[in-house]
Amino acid sequence: MKKVSVAIDGPAAAGKSTIAKKVAEIKGYTYIDTGAMYRAYTWHCVNKGLDCTDEAACVAEIPNVNIELLPGGKVLCNGNDITREIRMPIINKNVTPVCQMKPVRLFLVDQQRKMAEKSSVIMDGRDIGTYVLPNAEVKIFQVASPECRAMRRYKENQEKGIPGTYEEILEDVNRRDKADSERAFAPLKPAEDSILLDTSDMNIEQVVNRVIEIIDSKVKE
Ligand code: DC
Repeated sequence: MKKVSVAIDGPAAAGKSTIAKKVAEIKGYTYIDTGAMYRAYTWHCVNKGLDCTDEAACVAEIPNVNIELLPGGKVLCNGNDITREIRMPIINKNVTPVCQMKPVRLFLVDQQRKMAEKSSVIMDGRDIGTYVLPNAEVKIFQVASPECRAMRRYKENQEKGIPGTYEEILEDVNRRDKADSERAFAPLKPAEDSILLDTSDMNIEQVVNRVIEIIDSKVKE
């Protein structure tokens, strides 16, 4: 079977990981959550007591950070299971400056590209179609209104016991989208050859089916 790369980019809480996980299962691809990698790096800095706006201090940690994404969705940093911690509000806040640090991005992008060399992948993030995998066979830019995204994330967090009101989540989503779109290096933006998928009025099953349709139309085995 031909090796395939699928890039799913889009703003915060657009449901990219939910869809990518399901599509990966159906198609037999490896799912790579690049946001979890930026979150894990941030967790390491927070855990060390660093000021996450101090670029020199955060970048100096590169040799000390080993991030692993396990098949079941677990995220490890230097062997610690931080799957739940990385979804907490303190990480949402601090990930914004950390993910703007070019050396941190280059460090993580290198690992992301190596993963995509090994097997067929579906990778979600902000810069996958534009920067990480510019030759991906399939590029999707998944969007939904900020209110819709915040409400979905609020419900998901409630189920998982992660704190935060709807209003706080809406504010966080808008803040991160603005910062991610305006950063100088590898900002959030649709690749020119990406397909725009607005999921505001679609349920999960409809989005999964649509993504599979798009993959099948682009990838003729
Ligand atoms: O997808 P997410 O919300 O878990 O990502 C967390 C943060 O990481 C997000 O606010 C922006 C950053 N990020 C990034 O800059 N580039 C990526 N490819 C993925 C995430």
